[in-house]
Amino acid sequence: MGVSGSGKSTVGEKLAARLSWSFEDGDRFHPAGNVAKMSAGHPLTDEDRWPWLQAIADEIDRLCKAGQHAVIACSALKRAYRDVLVHGRNDVRIVFLNGTQQLISDRLARRKGHFMPAGLLDSQFKTLEPPDSSENPVTVSIDASIDAIVDDIVRQLGLDPADNGAPRRNHA
Ligand SMILES: Nc1ncnc2c1ncn2[C@@H]1O[C@H](COP(=O)(O)OP(=O)(O)OP(=O)(O)O)[C@@H](O)[C@H]1O
Ligand SMILES: [Mg+2]
Repeated sequence: MGVSGSGKSTVGEKLAARLSWSFEDGDRFHPAGNVAKMSAGHPLTDEDRWPWLQAIADEIDRLCKAGQHAVIACSALKRAYRDVLVHGRNDVRIVFLNGTQQLISDRLARRKGHFMPAGLLDSQFKTLEPPDSSENPVTVSIDASIDAIVDDIVRQLGLDPADNGAPRRNHA
């Protein structure tokens, strides 16, 4: 999770590759009506977002039931959105890509092939509710190289890539 430009796609894909997990972009789960609305330049309301978030939650249930592991990129800026995604599961972890507006706006200015209207980042930061400790989040600073961010996440999750992403065993 994180605002636009925080690195969800870039870091998420690298993290999934490191763990040999699959990667999915949450945007792919938008119903056609939302895609049309966004293409026309209209902002989504929370009412528009619930079916989208529920579709991601359903995908999480499907993956878990099949015994699979995945990294899913989703901005999930509000606690209520994350509550739909996690829905009480203890095998879903939130990873928060944390960075300043200045750093992210510099990165967005350099991002190729991705138009970002001025003001959108501002509104993203206004909407952002950083996860609190009750969500047991992994919070990482994005003021680092992509590899260092991935290392940080893997370490905080206690996952060993050599073990195909299975939780690290304690060797007593
Ligand atoms: N740690 C980093 N160091 C340098 N550049 C980075 C880093 N992380 C991401 N970037 C660059 O910042 C830009 C934004 O990253 P990315 O597209 O992954 O963000 P995003 O969170 O997926 O955004 P969106 O919500 O708009 O899809 C990209 O050009 C990416 O290459
Ligand atoms: Mg992205």
